[in-house]
Amino acid sequence: MLFFFTEKFYSTFFCIFVANMKNLPFFAQNLAKWYQISQRDLPWRNIKDPYKIWVSEIILQQTQVKQGLDYYNRFIARFPDVKSLAEAEEQEVLLHWQGLGYYSRARNLHFAAKTILQEHNGVFPKNYQAVKNLKGIGEYTAAAITSFAWNMPYPVVDGNVFRFLARLLAIDEPIDTGKGKKIFTQLAGNLMDKSNAGQFNQAMIEFGALQCTPTTPDCPICPFADHCLALALNAVANYPVKRNKTQTKNLYLYYFHIQDVFYTYIKKRTEKGIWQNLFEFPLIESSTPLNFNELSQKEVFQSWFPKNAQFKLVVENKKHILSHRIIYATFYAVTCPDACKSIARNDLTKIPVDSIGQYPVHRLMQYYLEL
Ligand code: ADE
Repeated sequence: MLFFFTEKFYSTFFCIFVANMKNLPFFAQNLAKWYQISQRDLPWRNIKDPYKIWVSEIILQQTQVKQGLDYYNRFIARFPDVKSLAEAEEQEVLLHWQGLGYYSRARNLHFAAKTILQEHNGVFPKNYQAVKNLKGIGEYTAAAITSFAWNMPYPVVDGNVFRFLARLLAIDEPIDTGKGKKIFTQLAGNLMDKSNAGQFNQAMIEFGALQCTPTTPDCPICPFADHCLALALNAVANYPVKRNKTQTKNLYLYYFHIQDVFYTYIKKRTEKGIWQNLFEFPLIESSTPLNFNELSQKEVFQSWFPKNAQFKLVVENKKHILSHRIIYATFYAVTCPDACKSIARNDLTKIPVDSIGQYPVHRLMQYYLEL
């Protein structure tokens, strides 16, 4: 609805919005009233321990509240404080993260716990910038920790808050840009009840999660219905706006065609995602291009191939376009002095060379096999 995207325009618009709301506290009061009645009883709510709040927020970046609860309870039972996490073996931390995915988040948690132990005497730093300097903590998480634990007036702006504000003010500014984030963060900060920042932020998140939901917002019983511009425009489903609904990502695949005299090795793609259950040569996947030297440093590369294996580049960066991905595939032919007999790995299937046609393969494999 709003097509003029200067920040000045938004602050003007914000003033009109506030005037329409009669006074600024009306927003916060209305929200607080809703929150008192509707909030869920969650273990990371109404606590002031920054460590537990931190763990909960990192888990909730990975999964929904419902699934996150079990992970949170198990994680906190085993690592109840910074010290126990910092002193744990990484493998055990990862084990408690197993199934959540994005394991770098768990590694960052572990790393940052060690930093707190070593550089802050084991005491969580009570300062926004110091919190944000910890590994894996960005603006959102730093705002959540400092506001929930110590009522510091930093607005949290997650997907829930973007959606709520975008609809309330019918904001056409895309949320997935630096400029959009800045505008929404400013708005949330202006609306905030600064004397009760923690509860205000929790309420904003909860409102988006329970009331102003992505596909089925319950507008008839919404306490902001009379003030919601998107509802007035009958355009709730149009908000929030994203610049790139489906971003195409580059994916680099490096295949290894192992040429034993009579055999080769293939692997079934069992993971969810592209080409599930199709067969392909052993491969290394990357979101960035890798040269041969970088490939040969990879653990899986070293586990597959003996030191004396020889590699011949056959196909380089063959482009293949899928709906969400642009794939660049490179194929190496691999030979070894002992005919690659030393490759005996249970993650690979050894098959007679002439039987490959019996296995379903994707287009890129087909392309290579037909060369
Ligand atoms: N999602 C992210 N943070 C949350 C929180 N504190 N409570 C509920 N859902 C959340």
